[in-house]
Amino acid sequence: MIYARISGTGSFLPGDPVSNEDLVKRGIDTSDEWVTSRTGIRARHLASADVGSSDLALIAAERAIEAASCEPEDIDLIIVATSTPDFIFPSTAALLQSKLGIRNGSAAFDVQAVCSGFVYALTIAEKFIRSGSNKRALVVGAEVFSRILDWSDRGTCVLFGDGAGAVVLEASEMPGIRTTALHADGSHHPILCVPGGVAAGQVIGDPFLRMDGQAVFKFAVKVLGDVANEVLEAAGATVESLDWLIPHQANIRIIQSTARRLGVPMEKVITTVERHGNTSAASIPLALDLAVRDGRIRPGHRVIIEGVGGGFTWGAALIDF
Ligand code: ACO
Repeated sequence: MIYARISGTGSFLPGDPVSNEDLVKRGIDTSDEWVTSRTGIRARHLASADVGSSDLALIAAERAIEAASCEPEDIDLIIVATSTPDFIFPSTAALLQSKLGIRNGSAAFDVQAVCSGFVYALTIAEKFIRSGSNKRALVVGAEVFSRILDWSDRGTCVLFGDGAGAVVLEASEMPGIRTTALHADGSHHPILCVPGGVAAGQVIGDPFLRMDGQAVFKFAVKVLGDVANEVLEAAGATVESLDWLIPHQANIRIIQSTARRLGVPMEKVITTVERHGNTSAASIPLALDLAVRDGRIRPGHRVIIEGVGGGFTWGAALIDF
């Protein structure tokens, strides 16, 4: 039996942290108290105008490849999860392949599932590896969400940040990713969206992120609880067997409510939302890399990663390290 195991992780955050106070100084009509008490967010990183998702992805990918003790040419599949690609096309994955200097002709494509994008991308890569068609995949979540924020809308602009996280996923005889679950319900698309596009040389519609925060909150808590239980049940595993839970980092209150519903103590939950804000598809691999590198996640540990985002989309993976 062929399994897919994570053999290396990497991440990258652009620039210095931008605190809530810094946003106030930049003219946003908010306060540290408002943002911190409702979301847990204290800071985020914002990429400069000349930096794209592929630039953030490159550094995260190089770090993951180094951690996996392989070379870029050993990668035979690249999947980038992003909702903020450098261009309409080519894909950010194709740009990343070029920047990594990979010339082996292997497949590279993007996945668009907003904040669930990394879970979607990892699940797709796992299927490629388990089928035997590929041996070593690079899976990346990379975002410059600051580009699609309406900085005059204080209800959304304080919530998000930029960054990238990556993993190398390898074929192995030992189980790594145990079970996965992906879901979508497009009927909820109006509660979180960027309802614009490009045509005839112009932006048609609205190019900024719009959100019904309270509807998103309720939906997220429900599906994050359900999908974690789904991957546990599919693996015949108990919640007590979990060492770590890595939920999408949108809001500390969503994370706390999810953990409470699942019966997972907060000591077992990795959180980065305080320092990174919501980096959409990058949030899970960023948190994963942090916890691997600081020694919390160790070989033998069992982890659930789970995401929820626009679409609506949601998903989870139960992973043994
Ligand atoms: N600073 C100060 N005041 C603010 C700010 C701000 N940044 N934003 C909104 N307010 C004000 C509003 O104007 C409103 O004032 P009013 O009562 O005088 O009209 C008041 O605060 C309450 O506004 P609400 O939007 O009702 O605030 P709510 O309590 O719902 O909190 C929040 C908003 C934090 C977004 C909350 O709904 C939430 O946590 N939702 C979850 C959504 C989320 O985290 N989304 C992330 C993306 S989704 C994802 O990744 C899956």
